[in-house]
Amino acid sequence: MPEARIQHFYDEPTGTLSYVVADEKSGHAAVIDPVIAYSMVSGRIDAAPSDAIIEYVHKEKLGVEWILETHAHADHVTGAQYIKSKLGGKVAIGEGICAVQAHFGPVFNLGAPFAADGHQFDKLFVDGDTFKIGEQECEVIATPGHTNDSVSYKIGSAVFVGDSMFMPDFGTGRCDFPGGDAELLYDSIQRILALPGDTRLYMCHDYMPGGRDLRWKCTVAEQQEKNIHVREDVSKAEFAEMRTERDATLNLPALIVPSIQVNIRAGHLPDAEDNDIVYLMTPVDTF
Ligand SMILES: [Fe+2]
Repeated sequence: MPEARIQHFYDEPTGTLSYVVADEKSGHAAVIDPVIAYSMVSGRIDAAPSDAIIEYVHKEKLGVEWILETHAHADHVTGAQYIKSKLGGKVAIGEGICAVQAHFGPVFNLGAPFAADGHQFDKLFVDGDTFKIGEQECEVIATPGHTNDSVSYKIGSAVFVGDSMFMPDFGTGRCDFPGGDAELLYDSIQRILALPGDTRLYMCHDYMPGGRDLRWKCTVAEQQEKNIHVREDVSKAEFAEMRTERDATLNLPALIVPSIQVNIRAGHLPDAEDNDIVYLMTPVDTF
């Protein structure tokens, strides 16, 4: 069977890669990790990054069955509900989202109406779950470590790895968010690197280190040989020490405060208050 067709979309301000994965025969498709722009200065939302995906889906006459999140992102606001409102599809994430919600619900004082049970999503995946995009066989590989809820999606011989790994010259995702764990991430990455060497890996971010051109995919073999953090001669202990030291030097993502509030709600904004205005809050001296 032919492999799924994969189109990438790059959101430059956040360095995020989103994808449309299409089964050519049926025209069924999945959208992976869509982005909505948010301005910290004005509080304005701009759907342009997701509109580019919608335009492509219309042009290619695709039917969206799934909107797949690799995790609750801390660096950009998801376009999942916006895409769903325009194109349909079921919004899915790993079941670890419940732990992420249980942590951040109290941080944002969401109270009892916000149940940390993942019900805001249409589907919670567990490790080993399978599903279809048209005739394409898809498998969920739980890859916690960057966050509790991180999953990778294997679609044919392509794997969408979320933030577990980046291109070989940038390494791996940070592990210092609540629920992050460098040793767990190492183990998760080993599961990906145990796949056949020619398996294609698709990144959720690329920051173009050293001013090189944008890159978004590589092979398992390339990661084993060249990844600056987890190539095959790096032990778990060496990785965990490096990752922990490096994480201590990183700034928080610029959009972490709005992103978490929207993304743990599966991309829904909070309800409007009685003046019909929607608010996102900023906890003081908390992050
Ligand atoms: Fe992330």
